[in-house]
Parts: sequence; C-alpha cells; structure tokens
Amino acid sequence: MNKAQKLLNWVDERFPLTALWESQWGKYVAPKNFNFWYFFGSLAMLVLVLQIVTGIFLTMNYKPDATLNGAGIPVAFASVEYIMRDVAGGWIIRYMHSTGASMFFVVVYLHMFRGLIYGSYKQPRELVWVFGTLIFLCLMAEAFMGYLLPWGQMSFWGAQVIVNLFGSIPVIGPDLSLWIRGDFVVSDATLNRFFALHVIAVPLVLLALVVAHLMALHEVGSNNPDGVEIKQQPKDPDTGLYLDGIYSHPYYSIKDILGVVVFMIVFSAIVFFLPEMGGYFLEHPNFDQADPLKTPPHIAPVWYFTPFYAILRAIPSFAGTQVWGVLAMGAAVVLIAFLPWLDRSPIKSIRYRGPKFKVALVLFIVAFIGLGILGAMPPTAVRTMISQILSAVYFAFFLGMPFYTKNDIGSIPVPDRVTDTNAKRQIQFVVLVLLTVFLAALFAMNV
Ligand code: HEM
Repeated sequence: MNKAQKLLNWVDERFPLTALWESQWGKYVAPKNFNFWYFFGSLAMLVLVLQIVTGIFLTMNYKPDATLNGAGIPVAFASVEYIMRDVAGGWIIRYMHSTGASMFFVVVYLHMFRGLIYGSYKQPRELVWVFGTLIFLCLMAEAFMGYLLPWGQMSFWGAQVIVNLFGSIPVIGPDLSLWIRGDFVVSDATLNRFFALHVIAVPLVLLALVVAHLMALHEVGSNNPDGVEIKQQPKDPDTGLYLDGIYSHPYYSIKDILGVVVFMIVFSAIVFFLPEMGGYFLEHPNFDQADPLKTPPHIAPVWYFTPFYAILRAIPSFAGTQVWGVLAMGAAVVLIAFLPWLDRSPIKSIRYRGPKFKVALVLFIVAFIGLGILGAMPPTAVRTMISQILSAVYFAFFLGMPFYTKNDIGSIPVPDRVTDTNAKRQIQFVVLVLLTVFLAALFAMNV
C-alpha cells in the first residue's frame, strides 16, 4: 500500500470520502447512450463554479454604494469602471462574470429542454425536476439582483419596473414592494440588500438545491435519449452492471471534458471578442450611470427574462391594475414544476411519442422564442397581439398536456434496450472531436 492509499484509508475511516465519490460519480451507473444533450448538466455546474469564483474576485473591488463621489458619479458605478480599467485583470473577471450570467441561462434552458424531449421529469424523476425548477427560480432571482449592482440606467430602471410589479398584488402589494426596496424608491438601501442577497444568500440556496438535485438524480438513476429504464434490465453476470449501464467514471468524465472544451471555446470567444453580444449580454443603456430623473426610452430586461416579460405585457391592465399580468408571468414559471403530473403519456422519449406531443412541442418552441423576441422590443399594437397569441400557445402547451398526451402513441414501440449502436456513437464522437479541433483552430487564428 503506497502513502496516498494509506492517507485515503485514514480519511475514509473518519469521513466517507471514497463512499461519496463512488455513490455520486465514480461507481454511479449511467445509461451508455448519453448524447450531447447530456453535456449541459455538467456545464451548468461548471458555470456555477465560474460565477462563484469570478464573483468572489469582483467583490474584492466592487462597492455597493449609491452615493455620488466627488466627480458626481455613483460609487457603485465608478467601482465597476475601476474594475474594468484599473484593477489588474479586472476586465476579464468582469466579462467572465457578465458572460457567465447569460451562458448560465443558455446552458440551463438547453438542459431543461433535454428534460422535455426525453421525458426526464416523469416518474421516478419528479423530484429531480421540482428541484430543477426551484434552481431555475433562484437563478432568476440571482440574475435580477446581480443586475442592479453596476447601478447603470438599466439596472436602476429595470429594478424599478420589476419591484413595482409586486405593488400590484392586492392587499399586501404596496407594503411588499416597500419591503423589498427598503425605501420608497430604488435607492442605496435597495442596492445594499440586493448585494447581500446576490453574493451570499441566494448562492447558498442555489448550491444546496444543486446538491439536492444531484442526490435525487443519483437515488433514482439517469434517464436517457431512449427513455428506457436501465434499472429494469437484468444485470450482466460478468460485470454486475445493468445491461445498458456503464460507470460514469471514466466514461462520462472523459465525455464531459469534450463538452467543457467546446463550451470554453465558445465562452472565451464571447469574452474576448463579443463581451456585449450586441447589447444582449451587456445592455448599452447600462453604460450610463443610474439617473432617477431620466427614464430610458425603452426599458427591456436582459434576453433570458424576455419570454416571461412578454407574457406580462401581453395581459392588459384591468381597472388600472397589472395584477393579472404579474400572475400570468408567475404562473408561466410555476407551471414548469407541474410537468411530471400534467404529462399522462406512458412514453418518455420523443423518439417514441405520437404526433400530438411533437406538434405541441414545436408550437411551444415557436411560442417561447417568439415571446423572447417580442419581449425585447418596444410594444406596438401588433406586437402585443402576437404576444397574446403566443402566450395562449405557451399556456395551452401545459394546460392541454393532460389531454393531448393521453392516447398519443408513436409508430415505433419503446424498445427494451437502448438503441444507439456503438458505430453510431463512434461517428458522433469523431464529429464532435473534429468540430472541437476546427473551433480551436479558428480561435487560434483570431477569427
Ligand atoms: C444550476 C443549475 C443546474 C445544475 C448545476 C444541474 C445539474 C445537473 C446534472 C449534473 C445532471 C446530471 C447530468 C445530466 O443529466 O445532464 C442533471 C440532471 C437533470 N437535471 Fe439538472 N441542473 C441544473 C438545473 C436544472 C433545471 C433548471 C432543471 C429543470 C427544471 C433540471 C432538470 C434536470 C433533470 C430532469 C435531470 C435528469 C436528466 C436525465 O436523467 O435525463 N436541472 N442536472
């Protein structure tokens, strides 16, 4: 026994290190047919770590202070400019954090979409999904509060608009928005509490939820692109594994590294060449300091909120209150958590579903992207009307689900074993490797 092994034994006798590693990853048996959609869970973890690490470094120089400095600039706004111009490496840390925020949503939306197409939310993974929806809610709160911190025009007015929305809730609304702001307007008090919530409170909850998400997943086991439950298969007498199961380590450790490489290439390309992403990752009005006396002509949230914002704007105010719009926006998020109980089909994967679900899914994608585009634009009568139609489609996808999934059987029966052949998987792997090399070459040439 070498020294490292002795040390590990010493630790294991006092703390279940090896047992944790093996149950959560090393000896976790996963279906052998994961495709590229299964990259996004590990990528979400990567972005979470990136955000925490870059966030810690930003906090070393950022100041949550809305008072004006000697030059008439809010201290918070000036501290971000200081990070960008004067702190060694500050610009890259800040761009990594701002790009990371948007990429978090890209990754999480794709991760959720994977769940949707392969029915990963269905029994026995309902809690994995519910924890996921809670993570999504936390992520939205985290992004919203982080956006106030640079104290630019959009930070200020965006927060003003959203916090005011709470005011439209009957009875408790006005007191609630006052309580959230800590003042009658968005002010220094608001900035301080959003800072506290953004840097410590919400990240702690987020981390705890991710742990719960993964523990729940590893309890029941992963789904896969065929929606076949590998735990219902007999075990191979030689390996002791389910017939379609493999150990996550080393197989998926290696595969996930490929996802990380492709992701980091895209991520660095944005950080180095397109950090503002045409005003979508960093909105241009936010390069102006917050001015409570000057409302920007067009207030729009960052792109990842726009589908929900469009739903909010689609519902007209009744008797001077926006409460129905606010409720609809809230319902649009909360409904996601109920998917496991809305979907009544016995079939998980889209590969074996009937035509009704496929049509509903296509309409849903069109509605979600359409709402996202409309939510970023200033409203006009026509755009509002289209938003109303698309909002109706969005809700119909969820509320109609118990009906259209009931007897919706596809033409190909669900197989007993996963279907992807080794040859097909090898071709996919080679294509991915070539793509990675191609992207890396483009990147190296500064294209
Ligand atoms: C910080 C955000 C998140 C992190 C770090 C995260 C992490 C992970 C990881 C590592 C896995 C296993 C690998 C994989 O299947 O891709 C996973 C699986 C899963 N996640 Fe997440 N997740 C996050 C957010 C969400 C959200 C928002 C949802 C849905 C609302 C969700 C739903 C699921 C489901 C259903 C699975 C099981 C997939 C299957 O077995 O087919 N996750 N997650």
